[in-house]
Amino acid sequence: MRKVLPVLALALACSSTRGAAPAAALPTHATPEQDARADQLLTGPDWYRHAVVYEAYVRSMSDTNGDGIGDLPGLTSKLDYLKTLGVDAIWLMPIMPTPFKDSGYDIADYRAINPDYGDMAAFEAFLAAAHAKKIRVLVDLVLNHTSDQHAWFKDSRASKTSAHADWYVWSDTPSRADIGCGTYGPQFGEQAWTLEPARNQYYFHRFYPQQPDLNYRNPAVVKETLDTAKFWLDKGVDGFRCDVIGLLVESATGCDMIPETLDYIRQLRGVLDRYPDRAMVAESKITSVTPYFGSGKDMFHMAFDFPYGYFWGLAFNGGSRKIAFDALSTAATGYPPGAQDASLIGSHDVQRAWTIARGVAWKYRRAAEISMFTKATPFVYYGEELGLRAGSGVVVDTRDSARTPMAWTRAPGHGFTTSPKPWLDFGEAADETNVEIEDADPSSMLTFYRQLLAFRRGHAVWGTGDLVMLDVDNPALLAFVRKNAEEAYLVVVSLSEDPQEGSVAATEVMRAGELVWGNAALTVAGASARLTVPGAGSAVFKVR
Ligand code: NOJ
Ligand code: CA
Repeated sequence: MRKVLPVLALALACSSTRGAAPAAALPTHATPEQDARADQLLTGPDWYRHAVVYEAYVRSMSDTNGDGIGDLPGLTSKLDYLKTLGVDAIWLMPIMPTPFKDSGYDIADYRAINPDYGDMAAFEAFLAAAHAKKIRVLVDLVLNHTSDQHAWFKDSRASKTSAHADWYVWSDTPSRADIGCGTYGPQFGEQAWTLEPARNQYYFHRFYPQQPDLNYRNPAVVKETLDTAKFWLDKGVDGFRCDVIGLLVESATGCDMIPETLDYIRQLRGVLDRYPDRAMVAESKITSVTPYFGSGKDMFHMAFDFPYGYFWGLAFNGGSRKIAFDALSTAATGYPPGAQDASLIGSHDVQRAWTIARGVAWKYRRAAEISMFTKATPFVYYGEELGLRAGSGVVVDTRDSARTPMAWTRAPGHGFTTSPKPWLDFGEAADETNVEIEDADPSSMLTFYRQLLAFRRGHAVWGTGDLVMLDVDNPALLAFVRKNAEEAYLVVVSLSEDPQEGSVAATEVMRAGELVWGNAALTVAGASARLTVPGAGSAVFKVR
């Protein structure tokens, strides 16, 4: 438990100061009133603005048939755990048949289930069970490319006259004048063109050679992929997470979110809008999020805030708030009306948050608070709620360090599998970092996440209230106000392990409010408000 530092004790003596010792034990469960309010907020087309979404890798959640591979019945059996955690929706990483060259992001059939995970009946049972618990389900829509084992590509590569000859992007040379882009990233190889001897032509791929890019200049591809979306919507899924969607169409001058791609996204949105209460989130780009929203109504409901989600470590490890401040400022005012930010501190593509925080729990917790308290729909990557550590096994590529199986118990197999050999080794310290141990520990990461989610629950202000960044005169403090017609909060997070003080103009602070989360003091004197924050600390004040 953090100490109340002398400087804080001093501040507490002032009459206009609010602050307190760390709230003894914040509830790990929302009240029935909060739950009732949450049910209202989560009903109807705006549900996604008020949800907490959990990114699940089915392969690593829970194995029910002892083959060492997590499966859909396994995830179904964990729905109660997720519900208790405070999860309102689950994003499933790809669940379709795959040769597994890119962990399922190489799809061999868009309309079936990976047999390792179960069959369509198992998916339908999972979906029904999730819906019965009022948990929505988003599936990963990977449209830029298929697996080279997809029937379309097998046909396309066979000859220049096959039925699918023009479904992929072919060239006589390893380049094309109308495609002005190279490889997507070093981990996916140096060459974007691979020779297919049967056609004596090269095919284009932004990722691994086993992931040929579809040709979206072919109307048949457009129709078929939109029909794929319909297929899953007809099954009853609540929407999609759209993989590298900006890369669909290429041109001589650009390959990222070119007008033809925007046009496709609008068509996809049109498909979703024919179904009630559906939403989709874009895998946007670290360097640009705003274009994915379009007008705010015609493209994505949500887009990932990678500028914060993938760079928060710099803010904490470098001690400067600029990275976080700039990202949040853009989300506060830079998006079109109607846009909803999707915040995160981890995903299957980056190192575990524990690694990014360099194994320092307070940095992890403060980073998570920013993600939960900013104006966004927070996404929690499975195991993040435990502080799951990195693994060292590699089945696909180095990103497997953040894709290790969940650790549910201390026992061998950690409650994940009865097999002596899980598909991928557990991460480090799974004997301590598991649900069983953390469940019983009031200071664990799991308890902290439960408190965080319970604290937010049923308060519309966190999902949609205005976000006003505060210009604190101390760069080690990040502070902002969240407000709507009903209530207002001041959030302050320290990026430093030393005690910090800072002032802000009192206009946005309204009054020295009640400390409702964390530990700090807020003193309002005239036009200025002073924040006194213990080392590694944070606080939320209810100011209206
Ligand atoms: C983005 C996904 O998040 C990543 O895991 C995958 O490798 C690429 N897209 C290719 O689909
Ligand atoms: Ca299994």
